[in-house]
Amino acid sequence: MEKTIDESIQGQALVLDQKKENKRKLFIESYGCQMNFSDSEIVASILEKEGFNTTQNLEDADLVLVNTCSIREKAEQTVRKRLEKYNAVKKNNPKMKVGVLGCMAERLKSKFLEEEKIVDLVVGPDAYKDLPNLIEEVEAGRNAVNVILSKEETYGDISPVRLQDNGVSAFVSITRGCDNMCTFCVVPFTRGRERSRDPQSIMKEIDDLVSKNYKEVTLLGQNVDSYLWYGGGLKRDFKHASEFQKATATNFAKLLDMVAIKYPKLRLRFTTSNPQDMTMEVIDIMAKHRNICKYIHLPIQSGSDRILKAMNRLHTRQEYFDLIDNIKSRIPDCAISQDIITGFPTETEEDHKDTLSLMEYVQYDYGFMFAYSERPGTLAAKKMEDDIPLDVKKRRLAEIIELQRKHSEFRHNSFIGQTVEVLIEKSSKKSSEHWSGRTTQNTVVVFPKDQYKIGDFAMVKIDGCTSATLLGNAVGYSDNN
Ligand code: SAH
Ligand code: F3S
Repeated sequence: MEKTIDESIQGQALVLDQKKENKRKLFIESYGCQMNFSDSEIVASILEKEGFNTTQNLEDADLVLVNTCSIREKAEQTVRKRLEKYNAVKKNNPKMKVGVLGCMAERLKSKFLEEEKIVDLVVGPDAYKDLPNLIEEVEAGRNAVNVILSKEETYGDISPVRLQDNGVSAFVSITRGCDNMCTFCVVPFTRGRERSRDPQSIMKEIDDLVSKNYKEVTLLGQNVDSYLWYGGGLKRDFKHASEFQKATATNFAKLLDMVAIKYPKLRLRFTTSNPQDMTMEVIDIMAKHRNICKYIHLPIQSGSDRILKAMNRLHTRQEYFDLIDNIKSRIPDCAISQDIITGFPTETEEDHKDTLSLMEYVQYDYGFMFAYSERPGTLAAKKMEDDIPLDVKKRRLAEIIELQRKHSEFRHNSFIGQTVEVLIEKSSKKSSEHWSGRTTQNTVVVFPKDQYKIGDFAMVKIDGCTSATLLGNAVGYSDNN
């Protein structure tokens, strides 16, 4: 919504008044990728300065914000269901305002206001700093929309309020947007072009986490390996950067190295890696530092060269195998996980078999597997018919899930008898007598609490496993404490 400068100055004054009272309540919930959860922590920080305290109780909220996901149709349906729930709650609390953030906001823009009468506010992923002004509008009785995507915004100057806090592990965003244009994917449209965050602001955020005793940081981006800081701006404009900017640029390997050296006791993770952008330099840096976790999420989507090409994944099956071989030779104990889509347009039984045989080659530790869901506006939606019948998609998906289950079981079993380092994160969901934590490979381990506490690195002897969890007993502290 357009506003004059005068109006926004008045708006700011009003906000300052309310800030003093500090009594508005914000209920914020997130769906979708980790980036959304991380963004909600930025939003909570922006609104904390405006006098909003977060509440876990929907019924108490003055403002309800839902950070949404558009990746598959089902993700959008989930959000629509939540809006129905807010509608029911609003009947008892008519003053409650409802805002939609994230990818669905960006995709549907002001159409959201027509489609969902409960919605007062629609804010895209690059516009969160405008929230105070937009909320002013809403409180004055007008709907407000800002879905402008940015070339620069990285929220590098905002200290997130940690919402899903175990006090041990945290997410730190390092890039925003994605330039890869996979033909099935809505993200480049909803999150805009790729830009990286100033390494100094990343270091400052990690410094703050370390001083608060956090033990693990996950660097986040849609495509982290493509991180490139050259003084700001879009990644795709790097070619026009000055010689000085090019010579002093920081790539992902350098950033990882810097963080790993500065915080030798901090566990470092990163996600997500796109195979075409993962370099040997990054693999070597991982191998060099004990504190960089031996785990790579490396989506493949399909094992068929023809489908990879139609998806605009810019690598072949063989190049992926070469990458896997390089990882395994430099980091033999590295865990690898996948994302796979079944039933992409034109996928044949032969293509599907290629995916199964690729899985047999890699023997992934974990996987995230999905049936293709056509997303409006993507190249695949425009150019290709969603022609694989749902029952075929589902049957192929079931076969892939079953094979992954076998491989995960095999991987888990290989830990039995080993003693592994576990960072303790929380009580086990199933038993208050047991801790739950993760190994460097990102596998969950559950073991009796004994004298250990949250945030300790324990050495745990593994003596059994369930389908997704290792079981064992602590035999001492790790020297990383
Ligand atoms: N680079 C991103 C990928 C985001 S999407 C990241 O940080 O994870 C996550 C996964 O969702 C993709 O790897 C893909 O397997 C799946 N996905 C994306 N678009 C999809 C679609 N249209 N239908 C089904 N699955 C999809
Ligand atoms: Fe989507 Fe491909 Fe980027 S899956 S987020 S366009 S790497």
